[in-house]
Amino acid sequence: MEKENEILAKMEEEFAAKFGAQETRAYFSPGRVNLIGEHTDYNGGHVFPCAISLGTYALVADRADNKTRIYSMNLADKGVIEFAMSGLSYDKEKNWANYPMGVVKVFEDAGHKASHGFDILVYGTLPNGSGLSSSASIEVLTALILNDAFGFGLDMVEMVKLSQKAENTFVGVNCGIMDQFAVGMGKKDCAILLDCNTLSYRYSKIALEGASIVISNTNKPHSLASSAYNVRRAQCEHALNELKEVKPELNALGELSNEAFNQLAGAISEPLERQRARHAVLENNRTLEAVEALEADDVVKFGKLMNESHYSLRDDYDVTGKELDTLAELAWQIDGVIGSRMTGAGFGGCTVSLVKNEAIEAFKEKVGKAYTEKIGYAPSFYVANIADGTHRIK
Ligand code: GLA
Repeated sequence: MEKENEILAKMEEEFAAKFGAQETRAYFSPGRVNLIGEHTDYNGGHVFPCAISLGTYALVADRADNKTRIYSMNLADKGVIEFAMSGLSYDKEKNWANYPMGVVKVFEDAGHKASHGFDILVYGTLPNGSGLSSSASIEVLTALILNDAFGFGLDMVEMVKLSQKAENTFVGVNCGIMDQFAVGMGKKDCAILLDCNTLSYRYSKIALEGASIVISNTNKPHSLASSAYNVRRAQCEHALNELKEVKPELNALGELSNEAFNQLAGAISEPLERQRARHAVLENNRTLEAVEALEADDVVKFGKLMNESHYSLRDDYDVTGKELDTLAELAWQIDGVIGSRMTGAGFGGCTVSLVKNEAIEAFKEKVGKAYTEKIGYAPSFYVANIADGTHRIK
């Protein structure tokens, strides 16, 4: 992996070439991997993600006018993109810059108006579209750049909420709070147990004796994940509304125990929606059980629950698909794999596996070879380091 000082040196050079040499501030915003608790956030349940050392760097200089010019070294073909710092609306032409633009817009709407623009150079070490939250990474990054430059005095949770709002209202993806929260609030060597109903959270130290978190990327070309995602959300909301008819005090699927769900499930008229809701309820309770196991040093149980999470996402929630199922099934066959499941929204993207250190090389080789034979192209692997959330470097 590239070192931070080397990355920043390369960026300084590029910044000077694009915008002219100036004093800059430097920031980093991580990506995230969710260990367990999938499609539970917008159902008022728990998630257990961590921020990772792959993410997005930015160099920033103030401009005197109201314009921002932004350039990504990863998307050089898009060139320098310009936008005004007020009155923004979604503009397809501006491509990836809609993420930072969305954050500028929700800040303005919340009364945090920028009084000037910036020159910004961005460089990402996260593979785009891999489901490791490159979009949340750049959203929270933008929020911190604004908060820092204008002294708005927002705390990180407020910035996280505004970043999610930008994704929901400006970009149009109806995501939950997990990604922005994990990116903004991440802490080195810890996962975050977050209750998405109340936003109460705590850090849980991840000390895997002799094992590592391995991320496997399906490298599946971008799919129509966001429309299928919104459909799952709507199905759960409809199921919840039917449950409320028999249990009016219910606010979220995440409030139900498995037993309570089994008793009430008949109130959900559509079998498919009953299935979706069952995943949301069982996955939430599984997440709490998994965190308890991990904190009691029962990594084996944690791994087993990861596998069960995948079955449920495959069978009840139907968000895995051939590529993710292939990666998980191959992983389960390898000695030294403690657990493996899809992570993130699904439909493509990545799996997360706990792998004993001595088995990592064999894991990459065997899974890589068999996956390539079956799917027709190769996966990629990253050993994840759990990192701090979005911060200023200098
Ligand atoms: C995406 C969304 C999150 C969450 C996950 C599924 O990553 O952005 O809010 O719903 O999918 O757990």
